Amino acid sequence: MINSNALAALLEALGTDLVATGAAIPDRRHSDWSGVPGSVPLALLRPRTTEQLARMLRICNEHGQTVVPQGGLTGLAGGACCGPEDVAVSLERMNAVEEVDPVSGTLTVQAGCTLQTAQEAADAAGFLFALDLGARGTCTIGGNLSTNAGGNRVIRYGTMRDQLLGVEAVLADGSVVSGLHKMVKNNTGYDLRHLLAGAEGTLGIVTRAVLKLHPQPKSVSTAWCGLPNYEAVTTLLGRAKAELPGGVSAFEVMWPSYLAFMMDKVKGLRAPLPRRHAMNVLMESAGADAVHHPAAFEEFLARMLEEGVLEDAAVASSSSDARALWAVRDATAEFPIMLPGMAAFDVSFAIGDIGRAAIECEALLRQRWPGCTALVYGHLGDGNLHVIAHIEGGKPAETRAIEDAVYDLVRRYHGAVSAEHGIGSLKRKVLGHTRSPAELAAMRAIKHALDPKGILNPGKVV
Ligand code: FAD
Ligand code: LAC
Ligand code: ZN
Repeated sequence: MINSNALAALLEALGTDLVATGAAIPDRRHSDWSGVPGSVPLALLRPRTTEQLARMLRICNEHGQTVVPQGGLTGLAGGACCGPEDVAVSLERMNAVEEVDPVSGTLTVQAGCTLQTAQEAADAAGFLFALDLGARGTCTIGGNLSTNAGGNRVIRYGTMRDQLLGVEAVLADGSVVSGLHKMVKNNTGYDLRHLLAGAEGTLGIVTRAVLKLHPQPKSVSTAWCGLPNYEAVTTLLGRAKAELPGGVSAFEVMWPSYLAFMMDKVKGLRAPLPRRHAMNVLMESAGADAVHHPAAFEEFLARMLEEGVLEDAAVASSSSDARALWAVRDATAEFPIMLPGMAAFDVSFAIGDIGRAAIECEALLRQRWPGCTALVYGHLGDGNLHVIAHIEGGKPAETRAIEDAVYDLVRRYHGAVSAEHGIGSLKRKVLGHTRSPAELAAMRAIKHALDPKGILNPGKVV
């Protein structure tokens, strides 16, 4: 129901520059990348300061006005989509890099700052900000944090949660929790950072964050590997972790259907290897030594070839070579255009189960929906599989049936229905596949304690 009192109060207190309505709301404020339909919100709030946002939420809470936080809208779970009765809050005007502290090794940014801007600020100061994912140019630190984003380097540096030292956020009632600490160790009661990370905008709106910086690697070695089977993939992963001096900084696995589809459909991609293999791995290792590290990487691959773990491998000899290999993996950004209406999954399993689960999943999809495009790939080092299923001219009911079948398989394997994209509105109905009734009750109790009127991102997560 449209809450005209709330809108009038917001406009009176904050004015039309901070509270946009009607034609002043840009088109892109309707929905995210998930394909979940969105509507023009009742109003778009664009605060310039934490204090302005606090006033906005205080007014919304008083009037029971629902609020949907929005970052770069690259989310894949419908978490940032709003209805016509919601007000949307965008932090696009709070996008500054506030400080790089080289001694503490920290980066302090406002939540509307894009991931790429944060990475570039770290780079300019001689550091690495480790989170990386395909949507880097558009997604924001607030969105990354609220979805606890993963991406390509989790295997070495962890998820967004692991990059987080301090956070400032505004709660539903307008109170500001300010924990912009730079301390690594801080055992002083409940850790609000970890409640806000992954809360998908349901517990508070993140305004600023202190992020951890890492030393820049001196050398990054990249190889595309062709392997005979899944067992060889897990052997390669275990051996690379144990034997490479720099460890493994990315381990992306693609099943043959994925590679064949990309080579066929995406223009400008170079085939990484002359022959096709049963399994493909894009492996990266980052080291602290520009001479010995690349040599050790090549020696390791030679050993793996000799032992039959690998059938073939192509090592990138320049950064443009490495980019060409990564282009095959990053082309997933094209899926929504190439496969409109697809069902997309980001599920996780125990690493030992993935080989069987992937084969079973592809077989199930092709058997029940002959002619269906079924593509499997993922961040295997983290047990995270992405499955894409698409039926040419398919109806929404068929997509729902595919979702039921895949999530059923995930439940049978005791996996998780979301490894990195979150629950949003899209996966709310299957949250119970992964979480017990007691866990769900605890989540609801936390939500109720921090947002008793349920104004923040209603209909999402719990
Ligand atoms: P939005 O989409 O705007 O919002 C996401 C959620 O966070 C919503 O629930 C929203 O309400 C909430 N939110 C946003 N800002 C705030 C805030 N300041 N305070 C509180 N809540 C907020 N994800 C991965 O994990 N790994 C990947 O490898 C990966 N690759 C991707 C590749 C592509 C091409 C695309 C399009 C997406 C990819 N994603 C990936 C999805 C990923 O979740 C998002 O890219 C990113 O983390 C979301 O950031 P955003 O700013 O776009 O958030
Ligand atoms: C990827 C995104 C979709 O890994 O999470 O391609
Ligand atoms: Zn992913």
